[in-house]
Amino acid sequence: METKIWQATDLSAAVTALKRGRLVAFPTETVYGLGADAFNEKAVSKVYAAKGRPSDNPLIVHVATPSQVRDYAQVSEQAQQLMDAFWPGPLTIILPVVPDKLSKLVTGGLQTVASRLPDNAVTRQLINAVGSPLVGPSANTSGKPSPTIAEHVYHDLHGKIAGVVDDGATKIGVESTVIDLSTDSPAILRPGKITGPEIEAVLGGPVDSFEHHVAADEVPKAPGMKYRHYAPDKDVYMVKEADWTQAIIWAQGQLAPVGLMLPDQLVEKHQLAGMDFVWPLGENDASAAAKLFAGLRNFDDQPMVKTILVARLADTPANGAYNNRLNKAAGGQYFDVAEFM
Ligand code: TXA
Ligand code: MG
Repeated sequence: METKIWQATDLSAAVTALKRGRLVAFPTETVYGLGADAFNEKAVSKVYAAKGRPSDNPLIVHVATPSQVRDYAQVSEQAQQLMDAFWPGPLTIILPVVPDKLSKLVTGGLQTVASRLPDNAVTRQLINAVGSPLVGPSANTSGKPSPTIAEHVYHDLHGKIAGVVDDGATKIGVESTVIDLSTDSPAILRPGKITGPEIEAVLGGPVDSFEHHVAADEVPKAPGMKYRHYAPDKDVYMVKEADWTQAIIWAQGQLAPVGLMLPDQLVEKHQLAGMDFVWPLGENDASAAAKLFAGLRNFDDQPMVKTILVARLADTPANGAYNNRLNKAAGGQYFDVAEFM
């Protein structure tokens, strides 16, 4: 199958492909999604095959209007409050499913379903034109960093999908916050740009966070949490700000080049500007999140590079998503001065 890259200005070929049950990757404000008609079971089954994704890991249903969710899920008052506050935007809401409306392939056989209304006008137009919500896992090969430009999608999935709607680089760069409203107490299952305190302010009560509690032998709240994620085929280490001087000395002493990913401010401080194997993360924490996955992919594609050192950001709620994805890519490993030097 030849995979096309379509400009966002003409959606006609993408609409036709989706209506015929084919796969089309679409842009969002977070990362690119791999779209299929959520009400076409055969189309949804192709998503798992194309990504190499385990079939017990459920998909997010992407809608163009909040009212579309009522076709297949039970929308509580709390859910409506969050939709009013944050949609369109990077918040995925898990609700009890309305029986017999969706394929088990969408829900992973659970009694709940995840929904999100992306802050991207092109994709909302696409959903409206297809006339059906779209499932949309991140459009990467399972286990790889999520795609933030159309070329990443093409790199992973060409030959397996009909095409990609290219709307440039995604703004946020890490996946949506996932909140579970299907139980008595709201819980964040995956951190994203929208933080726990922001959600608590809208709901007027406490919100749990389960992101830190998943051991390999545990049944995770979000099935996706048990799989390896965002991991390039390299050794990735997190570096705390105070350890960069030592980390750079160590890196320069290695035979194979070491990829360095760090904020502009540290690039300048350590006089690394313009050097090979340096991936600047931009001028603030938001730009770091937007550039994280692209940087990991950049070094992953360079065979000479065996090791990547990446800046750990300050542990604030706003940096929760960045640090969570980095921690997964690094398998929890830090550059440790005592151990490395
Ligand atoms: O930003 C995003 O959310 C992107 C863009 C494309 O919208 N999509 C995305 O989808 O990241 P995906 O499939 O890669 O991640 C969805 C996560 C998985 O960890 C999955 O296990 C969890 O949401 N999930 C989906 N349905 C669920 C459910 N009913 N209960 C618990 N977790 C669920
Ligand atoms: Mg994903």
